[in-house]
Amino acid sequence: MRLRHVKGAKDLIASHPELIIDNIDNELIDLDNLFINDFPIHIEIGMGKGKFIYTKALLNPNINYIGIERFDSVIVRALEKVIEEPLSNLMLLRTDAQDLRQIFKSKSIDRIYLNFSDPWPKDRHAKRRLTHKRFLDIYKDLLKEDSELHIKTDNQELFQFSFEETTNYPMNLLYVELDLHNSDFKDNIMTEFEEKFSKRGNKIQKLTAKF
Ligand SMILES: C[S@@+](CC[C@H](N)C(=O)[O-])C[C@H]1O[C@@H](n2cnc3c(N)ncnc32)[C@H](O)[C@@H]1O
Repeated sequence: MRLRHVKGAKDLIASHPELIIDNIDNELIDLDNLFINDFPIHIEIGMGKGKFIYTKALLNPNINYIGIERFDSVIVRALEKVIEEPLSNLMLLRTDAQDLRQIFKSKSIDRIYLNFSDPWPKDRHAKRRLTHKRFLDIYKDLLKEDSELHIKTDNQELFQFSFEETTNYPMNLLYVELDLHNSDFKDNIMTEFEEKFSKRGNKIQKLTAKF
């Protein structure tokens, strides 16, 4: 994603602590008091401008959602949307995925979504891919027993890598689809990147696994 500096992003984030947590110091978040109920918590890591998670939250009021993104200049676009139309079951979190163990208690999350993660095509950058084993270790720790990891991408190399990482890890593959938009899969919610790349004719691939 091309990044532009967005003027005022930091100030806007700082002025809405009820909608977004700017996790500068990697403090533990008290999930028991973040939402007004005990509904399951689903997170999206690398949510970009937040279209997917906002729609999910709108359609599923009995699930709490946390949209995670590391860049101010990107997450501020999701923040603008929730300022306009807040949802009681959606919080935003500005942080890096590699810090999530300090931020959430072990076994506190019910589902993780990774949508169109940055592919990092060079081998020497493989460790930065959000489906690398070092991130699977983090997700395993965060997720409750039997909880699912959902991965979606149009990038074949990243999909192949993610397939290998998840099958080499002690986890079970539940679902693999190489052409999601021409499959029986119901209720797919498109992300910003998914709209853009499917219009170009790219096939969308999806994988679901649990630890
Ligand atoms: C290619 S974009 C996809 C955005 C969105 N999920 C979509 O499908 O439209 C990937 C996003 O993941 C974010 N990201 C990449 N690595 C991250 C990390 N380690 N922690 C948090 N966010 C990350 C990037 O900043 C970027 O906004």
